[in-house]
Amino acid sequence: MPWRKHPSPYRTWVSEIMLQQTTVAFVIPYFERFMKKFPDIRALASAKEEEVLALWAGLGYYLRAKNLLLTAKKIVAEHGGAFPDDFDSVISLPGIGRYTAGAILSIAFQKPYPVLDGNVSRVFSRLTAQNKTQGRLWEMAEKFLDRESPGDWNQALMELGATICAPENPHCGRCPAAFSCKAFKAKTQNLFPAPKIKKPFVKLNWNFLWIEKGEKALLWKRGESEKLLKNHWGLPEVGQINAEVGALLKSGMHTITHHQIRVRVYQGSLNEKNPAPAKWAPKRDLSRFLVSSLWKKCLPEGN
Ligand code: ADE
Repeated sequence: MPWRKHPSPYRTWVSEIMLQQTTVAFVIPYFERFMKKFPDIRALASAKEEEVLALWAGLGYYLRAKNLLLTAKKIVAEHGGAFPDDFDSVISLPGIGRYTAGAILSIAFQKPYPVLDGNVSRVFSRLTAQNKTQGRLWEMAEKFLDRESPGDWNQALMELGATICAPENPHCGRCPAAFSCKAFKAKTQNLFPAPKIKKPFVKLNWNFLWIEKGEKALLWKRGESEKLLKNHWGLPEVGQINAEVGALLKSGMHTITHHQIRVRVYQGSLNEKNPAPAKWAPKRDLSRFLVSSLWKKCLPEGN
């Protein structure tokens, strides 16, 4: 894992934010591109949001990228560009909760704070053969923490959960903790943790317009009140602007969290001159603005 080489608070922070809800293998190329473009916190703090989002394109949960930029600016303004090393300052930064604060403080500063993610929770649930509340799991993380090497301990625990103590059919034969694992002894490792009740999928239909003018296409800025992809540039939706709806050009499915979205893109022709909040963007440059992988699936061929 590249973030384990030359560890620094900055590299640990960026990698931990990218690793939220995303697998190690998927994150690695994103992390490497990010470090090349923004090698340190000052480089990131002086970036435009558009540039940060472009490097995040395809990773999802774009609020993470916006918060990363906000936090870099805050650290430059309030901490002279040095990542703070006390828990209260770290946890007050945008986008950083108890897990990420613990990861940064233990991995980058060798401070004795635990971490708890889905992988670690599963390890603890099986070790004790109990379904514990979040509060109890944090207590356990605190109790077991190796205070001499908290960063190595936390990373080992997360990796154990991600690789050996897998959600289904864990590799108990290769587990260094099998000898003290209550679920393993009782052969109940597949019963812990109890499955979470998943939110049911919400089905949505999004209908967009593809409106061209010479070498340009019309983009639309989604509003603050949108539930998904708020404040993102996208195509205008049918009904948002005064336009004729023509032939269906492309359709596809896209999932965002628990939303299953059928996306259709129609040819559109504008009936008004200057719709707002919209802009004409060069067709060969759309990926600078259209960040979500949704757009890759539904732009007309050749764009
Ligand atoms: N998952 C999230 N952060 C991780 C880390 N530092 N090591 C291994 N797996 C992780």
